[in-house]
Amino acid sequence: MTDHSAGLPQRRHLVTEIPGPASRELLARRESAVARGVSNMLPVFVTDAGGGVIVDADGNSLIDFGSGIAVVSVGNAAPRVAARVAEQVARFTHTCFMVTPYEGYVAVAEELNKRTPGDHAKRTALFNSGAEAVENAVKIARHATGRQAIVAFDHAYHGRTNLTMALTAKNMPYKDKFGPFAGEIYRMPMAYPLRWPGGPAACEAEALNTFKNLVHAQVGEHNVAAVIIEPIQGEGGFVVPPSGFLPGLAAFCQDNGIVFIADEIQTGFCRTGDWFAVDHEGVVPDMVTTAKGIAGGLPLAGVTGRAEIMDSVHAGGLGGTYGGNPVACAAALGSIETMVDLELTARARRIGEIMLPRLHKLAAAYPVIADVRGRGAMLAIELCRPGTLDPDPATTTAVSAACHRAGLVTLTCGTFGNVIRFLPPLVIGEDLLNEGLSILEDAFAAL
Ligand SMILES: Cc1ncc(COP(=O)(O)O)c(C=O)c1O
Repeated sequence: MTDHSAGLPQRRHLVTEIPGPASRELLARRESAVARGVSNMLPVFVTDAGGGVIVDADGNSLIDFGSGIAVVSVGNAAPRVAARVAEQVARFTHTCFMVTPYEGYVAVAEELNKRTPGDHAKRTALFNSGAEAVENAVKIARHATGRQAIVAFDHAYHGRTNLTMALTAKNMPYKDKFGPFAGEIYRMPMAYPLRWPGGPAACEAEALNTFKNLVHAQVGEHNVAAVIIEPIQGEGGFVVPPSGFLPGLAAFCQDNGIVFIADEIQTGFCRTGDWFAVDHEGVVPDMVTTAKGIAGGLPLAGVTGRAEIMDSVHAGGLGGTYGGNPVACAAALGSIETMVDLELTARARRIGEIMLPRLHKLAAAYPVIADVRGRGAMLAIELCRPGTLDPDPATTTAVSAACHRAGLVTLTCGTFGNVIRFLPPLVIGEDLLNEGLSILEDAFAAL
């Protein structure tokens, strides 16, 4: 495939142990300067990255199966992102859109309005982080409906700010001792096929039914401002709801005047093989939150929604000093252009076609793998003690650590810490992709 790596050799090459001496020295400095609460999954200190590789301070070149948590889908320092950023940064870096506006912000809003699902009139507001987008989506939904309750799901992850911590399900490490949390948040069981008590076949109908009954009995439909869901859950374990569940939720929201928010912060921008994960089932949310893959690594986030919902908010009710920063907007335009020109939705699907058969073969060989799931280039394996659904976080950590030592950047996730997730840059070469899978296979063989 074409080289979109900004010139960095696309190969795995280890010259020291991982992490090597230069990284370990930096780690010591980091430990005495940086707060412990900000953790590192793999403490190699990066000097360069591009295409499918990350190069560290010791000169090791590692294969990237993480994309900085689903961010650099177009690759690190992607040529068009770098060029647009360089041009913008030399012209002006900030005016504050709320003071004196600029075209880049409007162009990104137009792109989001065009590319998010549905052909209704839309408006977009830009922010800096995913959590900030979610906070604002909730603000807008409450303002538009005059209602307060927000319904979220088990295993959800929506961020680390006060309101988004309340929406996030997992206690450790995200919420423990950080309360009190924002009020009027209600949590419903997630349609999680592997763990649904009635089994995967019953999951869709039963989960939808349970959801409707609980909303009715415990909240009251007329009190609900919004239902928020990740179409494929991210940090919670790459949980893919059975087909029919998302359309069922959307229909319920429509019938009850509830704003249906798809949190596409991790799934959006080609990651799952469509521009947005809800496209897979033709679901049209009232509001979509985006971040991560939108701007090739620069901090940018968006809330895009029906014009009448978004415009219900008075002038001055939304915003922030840096939201929609011109450099981040330039990066987003370069990133979107790259996604279109390189047809990255098709690349994501191709990555899935290469990875899934090998992951299924691995699961057949190693009963510790209880599930293989995901879509496009957002894939995961869940590890349980063989023959049970008891999570096996120890083996998960051991496999991931073995991958790291061999020069493959992998990430773990899941409410029970027993999921290894794969989020390669969509521009990764197929040789690297296959080599990364071989490293994973070797890690299981060495257990
Ligand atoms: C689905 C989802 N929502 C929200 C967030 C929060 O985004 P950020 O870390 O940019 O605040 C994340 C981050 O992982 C996410 O995956």
